[in-house]
Amino acid sequence: MSGNSGSNQMWGGRFAAGPSAIMREINASIPFDKALWRQDIAASKAHVDMLATQGIVAEDDARLIAGGLDQVAAEYEANGVPENWDLEDIHMTTESRLAELIGPAAGRLHTARSRNDQVATDFRLWVRDAIDQVDSGLLALQTALVTRAGEHAASIMPGFTHLQTAQPVTLGHHLMAYYEMIARDRSRFADARARMNRSPLGAAALAGTGFPIDRFRTAQALGFDGPTDNSLDSVSDRDFALDYLMAAAQCSLHLSRLAEEFIIWASQPFGFVTLPDSLSTGSSIMPQKKNPDAAELVRGHSGRIVGCLTALMITMKGLPLAYSKDMQDDKPPVFEAASLLALSIAAMAGMVAEAKFRTDRMRGAAELGYATATDLADWLVRQANIPFREAHHITGSAVKLAESRGIALDQLPLEDLKAIDARIDERVYAALSVEASVAARSSHGGTAPAEVRKRVAQAREALGIEE
Ligand code: ARG
Repeated sequence: MSGNSGSNQMWGGRFAAGPSAIMREINASIPFDKALWRQDIAASKAHVDMLATQGIVAEDDARLIAGGLDQVAAEYEANGVPENWDLEDIHMTTESRLAELIGPAAGRLHTARSRNDQVATDFRLWVRDAIDQVDSGLLALQTALVTRAGEHAASIMPGFTHLQTAQPVTLGHHLMAYYEMIARDRSRFADARARMNRSPLGAAALAGTGFPIDRFRTAQALGFDGPTDNSLDSVSDRDFALDYLMAAAQCSLHLSRLAEEFIIWASQPFGFVTLPDSLSTGSSIMPQKKNPDAAELVRGHSGRIVGCLTALMITMKGLPLAYSKDMQDDKPPVFEAASLLALSIAAMAGMVAEAKFRTDRMRGAAELGYATATDLADWLVRQANIPFREAHHITGSAVKLAESRGIALDQLPLEDLKAIDARIDERVYAALSVEASVAARSSHGGTAPAEVRKRVAQAREALGIEE
């Protein structure tokens, strides 16, 4: 702490007294932005290296600063980042420790930059890393989906509309629908990454700097494609965080829908799936219970992730250029969404990989749900040249009869079918089985096992999975 009556050592020059306890607490972002320490050190090292190259800081001082930053990093790695609210944030915490370690030369690090471009840089680097992590999680989930879809390319289940049995589909086809959703998620994250990969470092407080810095050099050192082009925008832009949250929110909706399928399928009346013990819990009072808590929490977490997106959108919506302190509130929602999303992806990947699909139950539900009624109607149109509306009516009578006897459509004896409509003959049975129904739907992207296998093979190739 510097001498003058407890005022802040970084900006205390203008102040007679230190901040109140409330000011200190409301101002402090260190409790959460310490998560940026790796990015902060990396950006500072790139900055000081550039300052030395440009002759803005002497080589000796630059070496001292870089070595000191390595030491601070080693301390953080070993002991965590100390949380002192007086030091406000990760940037001042690091600079203050650097000063303790190397003395007055530390004061040269902040030449030609501001915490405004510093935090914008650090946060972009953090989000970029988060996108890379999400992508590998989503790859694992896709791998699980494709693997199980390959096993079940021909396993028949009811396909639903309105959650009412509609037409038979295969489980592989159903799982591959989620593969497609996750593929779009990955491409959304990749778009966000490509768009955000420009360096704001060197925009300084808001207007740029008079020092002869080289923004292209720092951008390159930090793996950016180049520097941003407007200093006001550079320090006040949080589109990259919003792009990330939008992709995260949409991804979480997909995970939530998949989780919901598992919750429904695991219920006793459905009984389509036995969830892995490792991702289920029991009840403290009802011994028979095995609850799909992980799936329910994935469904719940999606609500929180959407909330994170909403929070940051509303934080940003009224801010004039350039930096405002409101923007410090950008980090908690992004950090929260990132950890909820990572857990949700891992939970769903585990569930897909380890679930025991009860294909007998699925097939039985497809048969007793009269999922092939459309096939009967189509057969009447094709083989007996009956107008579709009439065929629809005839089929309705057949379903009613089968339902009254509790049997599948293809279990109705021919004489009963003929009694409903004399134009029906024994060839109809070939169309009424659930196998025939799915095999017939071989249009591009359809549920026919051959189509599903084709798409699975393409997906495996796209993911680089060995046969
Ligand atoms: N902790 C601040 C943040 O996260 C750093 C930038 C502070 N800049 C300022 N002018 N007060 O946004």
